Amino acid sequence: MSFKEKYGPVAIVAGASEGLGAAWARELAGKGLDLILIARRENVLQQFANQLACEFSIKVTPLICDLSEEGAAEKIFSATGGVEVGLMVYNATLSYIGPFIENSSEEQVKLATMNMITPLKLVHYYGKQMVERKRGGVILMSSLAGFQGSGFLSGYAASKAFSRVLAESLWYEWKDKGVDVIGCCAGATSTPNYNNTKPESAGFFAPKVQTPEEVVKECIEQLGKTPSYITGIGNRIASFFMHRVLSRKMAVNIMGDTTRKIYRIK
Ligand SMILES: NC(=O)c1ccc[n+]([C@@H]2O[C@H](COP(=O)([O-])OP(=O)(O)OC[C@H]3O[C@@H](n4cnc5c(N)ncnc54)[C@H](OP(=O)(O)O)[C@@H]3O)[C@@H](O)[C@H]2O)c1
Repeated sequence: MSFKEKYGPVAIVAGASEGLGAAWARELAGKGLDLILIARRENVLQQFANQLACEFSIKVTPLICDLSEEGAAEKIFSATGGVEVGLMVYNATLSYIGPFIENSSEEQVKLATMNMITPLKLVHYYGKQMVERKRGGVILMSSLAGFQGSGFLSGYAASKAFSRVLAESLWYEWKDKGVDVIGCCAGATSTPNYNNTKPESAGFFAPKVQTPEEVVKECIEQLGKTPSYITGIGNRIASFFMHRVLSRKMAVNIMGDTTRKIYRIK
């Protein structure tokens, strides 16, 4: 079965106009899938959608939606009624860098909606249809930050643990039902979002920052083969030491100390 037969005819990419989301969209366009691309900035999204439609001769539908709002998933369901979605990539994220209590509880709830509630609803809705069809795929973007407590990235890191564990759990439930699920665990990746945080170097031994294209190419190779995947050899080595060699306490301390250092937190 070709990629398009297995995961087509239409893929949704949530958070698709730049960075990793754009790389996912471009990769799937190259495989001949029609796309529904979700983001908030209409001009940027429309321009990117036109570009992909032209370049790959596919149908690309931009959908303006704020994924951090209550009711975002329902808005997407009604906009995609009757469309056969064979692949769902949840890429967008909300993250706060700094002390947990410096963001209001309303802001933390917004983060939880964007990073956990909306993807949970989307996976439930489209995943159910895929299971009934006995084919399809779900890709949830996670992060190395979600492998242990990560001070000063607390809500984000916790939500990334949620994504990975949800993906791994559904991988097991659906592996004999024709639906592939993967948690894509990236390390530092040179997206506009990441670059805008202006991180300082984590030091000589820090894993190399990957490009969005590298992350996507590696992860898509693993779809259907493994429940979750850490992209980048440097990230896999770092993760091995952090989670198989060091104690939990050491791993949590290293993560917090590194975040404090690269973001100059007092
Ligand atoms: N970059 C890294 O270093 C890194 C590392 C590990 C894991 N990851 C994971 O990779 C994924 C992508 O991360 P990224 O931060 O680098 O982002 P990105 O892929 O560069 O782009 C974010 C995309 O999401 C859209 N978006 C942002 N907020 C949105 C909202 N509220 N509603 C709808 N769309 C929204 C943006 O467009 P609009 O602004 O127009 O809405 C943009 O298209 C995340 O899940 C992240 O956890 C990234």
